[in-house]
Amino acid sequence: MNAPMTIPELASNIPQGLPAGLRNYWYPILQSEELAAEKPVGIRILGEALAVWRDSNGKPCVVKDRCPHRSMKLSVGRVLDGDLQCILHGLRFDGKGTCTLIPWEKERCAAHDRVGVTAYPAQELGGYIWAYIGDAKKFPPPPLESEVPEELLKPDEFVCFRLKTQYWKANWLLSIDGSDGFHAITLHTVSQSASDIDRQGGVPLKDRRVQIVHTNHGVRGVSVDLEGKPIGHGHFTTDVRGERFVLPCLTTNPISPAPGAASYASRLWQFPSDENTTMIVRYLAFRAGNETERAKVKATFDTVAANRLEKVGDEDAWAVEAQGDLLEARRTENLLGPDEDVVKVRRMIARAFVNQVTAGSRDGISAGALDCPV
Ligand SMILES: [Fe+2]
Repeated sequence: MNAPMTIPELASNIPQGLPAGLRNYWYPILQSEELAAEKPVGIRILGEALAVWRDSNGKPCVVKDRCPHRSMKLSVGRVLDGDLQCILHGLRFDGKGTCTLIPWEKERCAAHDRVGVTAYPAQELGGYIWAYIGDAKKFPPPPLESEVPEELLKPDEFVCFRLKTQYWKANWLLSIDGSDGFHAITLHTVSQSASDIDRQGGVPLKDRRVQIVHTNHGVRGVSVDLEGKPIGHGHFTTDVRGERFVLPCLTTNPISPAPGAASYASRLWQFPSDENTTMIVRYLAFRAGNETERAKVKATFDTVAANRLEKVGDEDAWAVEAQGDLLEARRTENLLGPDEDVVKVRRMIARAFVNQVTAGSRDGISAGALDCPV
């Protein structure tokens, strides 16, 4: 009997290979508007260059961005009859990666089969182009609908405001660490404060402390004064349904932006473009089932949430980029009590990676965990 395969760890909970990403999951790789008809797009996901285009039905297609003939970038090619044509010698490929045309061959021949390109399952849903990046034969992709939050499947019940995708100069594992539930009251103390009184410093910063609270949505931090009295800092919702983190990289934050304002769920995917760059895909979901409610939540988004999120996002990017190298950051840290959730998430990601490599099994996302918490 063979000894079980082991993977060396680069640092605690970082098996070799994990910094490049967790394969065999659906990822939101583009927003719908970023993929026009007949205009292929080149993008790097999990360290791999991909060409993305729409076929003649508008359905997204994703293949490796390299022509199997002479290695030209396919993403600079043309879309003809729904297939992607290499700009260099004119070979064409369909969304399954099959070579459909070699311009100097009159009929289909063995050469066509020799020059197929790797394709990934792709689908459009909720304003995003999703791709299943992985080995679809070994790990058959679950239906996308079973792995996305419910609000994307129920546009009549929810409104989602998609933010512009950002690229942070940091490894994705550091970015995910950065979305813990108790940093916001310190890092975002000004940008995220709920009231003018708070913003004007009702309690001076030097006299603020943090109370750690264990909720059914994980560890949260509450800003308190020296007597332990909570400072009106908003953002704290109780009795939250669903998981704060689900694989491969989705963090959910339920937020009450201001007293009386509609609550929303912030959904945040953080995954590698490459080892040194993390894609930040985020939207806010509000429950709103009729026109009046929709107008109200749009006003909340426009007047409160959008501006604040921009500042918060900038602060998060700045913080994670300042931590620098992933392995150095992990080697020099000293984890404290409230970091328990960070450790749980790290273990979950590491276990999923190791299982795929050593046991050939893929951890799923429980669809039930993806109910909208607001
Ligand atoms: Fe943050």
